Amino acid sequence: MAEDGELTDIFDTGDIFANRELVRVGHVPELDRVVGRDEEIRSVGSALAAATEGGPPETTIIYGKTGTGKSLVSRCVTRQASRRAATNGAALKYAYVDCSDYQTETQASRELARELNEHLEAGESIPQTGLSAVDYRDITWDLLSDYDVDSLVVILDEIDKLENEDLLRSLSRARESGKSNTFIGVICISNKIEYRERLNERVDSSLQDNELVFDPYGAKQLRAILENRKDAFKPGVLSDEVIPKTAALAAREHGDARKAVETFYEAGRLAEKNGDGQVTEAHVDEAITQAEVNRFHRLVSGQTPHVKYILRALAALTASEEKKQFRTAEIYDLYTTIATQEGSDPLSHDRVRRLLKEQAFLGITESEHTGGGDREGSYLVHRLMRDPDIVFNALNADHGP
Ligand SMILES: Nc1ncnc2c1ncn2[C@@H]1O[C@H](COP(=O)(O)OP(=O)(O)O)[C@@H](O)[C@H]1O
Ligand SMILES: [Mg+2]
Repeated sequence: MAEDGELTDIFDTGDIFANRELVRVGHVPELDRVVGRDEEIRSVGSALAAATEGGPPETTIIYGKTGTGKSLVSRCVTRQASRRAATNGAALKYAYVDCSDYQTETQASRELARELNEHLEAGESIPQTGLSAVDYRDITWDLLSDYDVDSLVVILDEIDKLENEDLLRSLSRARESGKSNTFIGVICISNKIEYRERLNERVDSSLQDNELVFDPYGAKQLRAILENRKDAFKPGVLSDEVIPKTAALAAREHGDARKAVETFYEAGRLAEKNGDGQVTEAHVDEAITQAEVNRFHRLVSGQTPHVKYILRALAALTASEEKKQFRTAEIYDLYTTIATQEGSDPLSHDRVRRLLKEQAFLGITESEHTGGGDREGSYLVHRLMRDPDIVFNALNADHGP
């Protein structure tokens, strides 16, 4: 039997974090933690204003790259609107559906019913299988009427992942078609600006009333976002360089706040794991490298052994030579050596050339035609878009060849 002293240790919460929830992905902080999105917050707020008094929420479409605060602002403002409605004596409910997790019309409709059921604390049992999208929507209409909901806001996040627009259409027409007396508004979110065309074609133009574009953050804004959450850490634990450095790196990565917050958290976890008393720049560097290795590993782990040999060849060339662009023939030579060492028959030159082009498509490499002189004609050169160390690391982490 262990002694008391040892037993209490197993729940030790460490010396680094005071409130780790604040820097966890998926956490929806309060509106006062949202930095530098005042105008966007005001726009979403004004679309929901009437609904805080039991009126119709306006449909809003939000575009912007990943990590620009689209999901956050939508969820925060909607939650706030629902609270305001309650103080006004109106019933404004909301449901958040991440369409990247629920891509079919049936899945998304089921998730909508489930979310509403939960927010209403209705305690209905929503069947997991056996119902159609229409059935799930009927459950939704019933819930809305049973609980006298005045207004409903549905957030369809990553809506471009949804297989079709039937759910959106049905929500925007629920009232006129007599399915529900509740005023329903939708916040559609997409990372793809191209999605606008598709929406324009398929859904009424009335949807385009409120269209917002979220721009990527600059280093200064990212710094402010992290500053505003530094109470996730215990006092004195963060060294001064951590926030500026994390922000600067994330700014370089397309101004993605998700990456900034993730790196912030991971740096803290590394310090904690190593038993270090402080989070330092070195932890930030390590967190970034680790994240890149993980991401790259996910990207390559599904690839065939030959693709991995090709990447290994290109990474080896990039690491050992001054120049960074290589002709297909140069890569092919090293590739055949590696493949043979691994006991496989090398693929043809042409096949390798095509596989390299495919990798460019995944963003792992970049290929371009370079004009040689008249005699040579143009030829294809390839460049690795990652640090070779990361590629080696990820390829080695991969079990299998
Ligand atoms: N303006 C902001 N203020 C505070 N945190 C932010 C801000 N924008 C984004 N974040 C944080 O960055 C992460 C990604 O934001 P998110 O809203 O999910 O981006 P998007 O939906 O545009 O991809 C979340 O953890 C979020 O809390
Ligand atoms: Mg999002």
